[in-house]
Amino acid sequence: LKSIAVMTSGGDSPGMNACARAVVRTALYEGVEVWGINNGYHGLLDEDMFKMERKDVGDIIQRGGTFLGTARCKRWEKPEGRMQGYKNLVDRGIQGLVVIGGDGSLRGASLLSKETGIPIVGLPGTIDNDVWGSDYTIGCDTAANTIIDAINKLRDTASAHRRCIVLEVMGHRCGWLAMTAGIAGGAEYILVPEEEYDLDAICADMAKAYKAGKRYILVVVAEGAGSGQEIGKYIAEHTNIDTRVSVLGHIQRGGSPTVIDRVKASQLGEQAALAIISGLSDIVFGFNKGHVVSINLHDAVNNKKTLDPEYAHLARVLF
Ligand code: F6P
Repeated sequence: LKSIAVMTSGGDSPGMNACARAVVRTALYEGVEVWGINNGYHGLLDEDMFKMERKDVGDIIQRGGTFLGTARCKRWEKPEGRMQGYKNLVDRGIQGLVVIGGDGSLRGASLLSKETGIPIVGLPGTIDNDVWGSDYTIGCDTAANTIIDAINKLRDTASAHRRCIVLEVMGHRCGWLAMTAGIAGGAEYILVPEEEYDLDAICADMAKAYKAGKRYILVVVAEGAGSGQEIGKYIAEHTNIDTRVSVLGHIQRGGSPTVIDRVKASQLGEQAALAIISGLSDIVFGFNKGHVVSINLHDAVNNKKTLDPEYAHLARVLF
């Protein structure tokens, strides 16, 4: 192809900038025109896009968020919206699109490709690490590091007061963030949507541990596994332990990306640009056991990722 476009869509994630930068610079290196679309599918519908130069992606690799802007777009859910988006691309001579985003954004890309046949390459950009077929999504490492920073701080105050602290973290319907950050932060209990849990048994366990002299307890709850507030209330009511709740919220989405997120995002961006330029379509690039792999776009959005059961086992052993 001779002209492509790139956008970020859905919830922003640290490393999206590094990824878009790699797409743009690879395309320009290959002598291909590249457009940036602002604010995800919104920008595509509102014709908010511009031809990019190398300098447009300078000084962004270290920044969180996405310099292109992002959005969750209702209009894109309708076939008329997608046809309009297609027309706006064709009018500018844009022959292929790279979409950096999570599950919902890749689903939107999959529909556009099915309905119009325009070449699409997706890249998994979300802190949730919930895209099927890839071990990794752009931003999950930075977010997990943000969570362990919070856990370290909560541990100090929990220990000082002999409290239980419940920390609710993001992840949508996926427990990867809670599980990996919980393991790395040494949490006593990690509640994820993929694993059943028995709150009464946990409370009984906690009360026993306290009686035996335990100073504090940290519970990490994935938002998909329940409400931190409700779980904290239940623990307070069913044990004699002074309990507090923290909901980490959107802090998890921001911040300067880690080395892992910057490098992996750059690798994915390069592969996506090369693939779309060569006319490939309907693929998502991700990682499998440390290597870049391509996944069928429709498979990626139609399958549900599972959490490695080894994590849950490890969390139980290390408790
Ligand atoms: O998908 C990323 C994510 O941060 C989820 O973890 C969370 O459930 C959701 O987005 C929050 O979305 P919003 O920023 O629209 O409130």
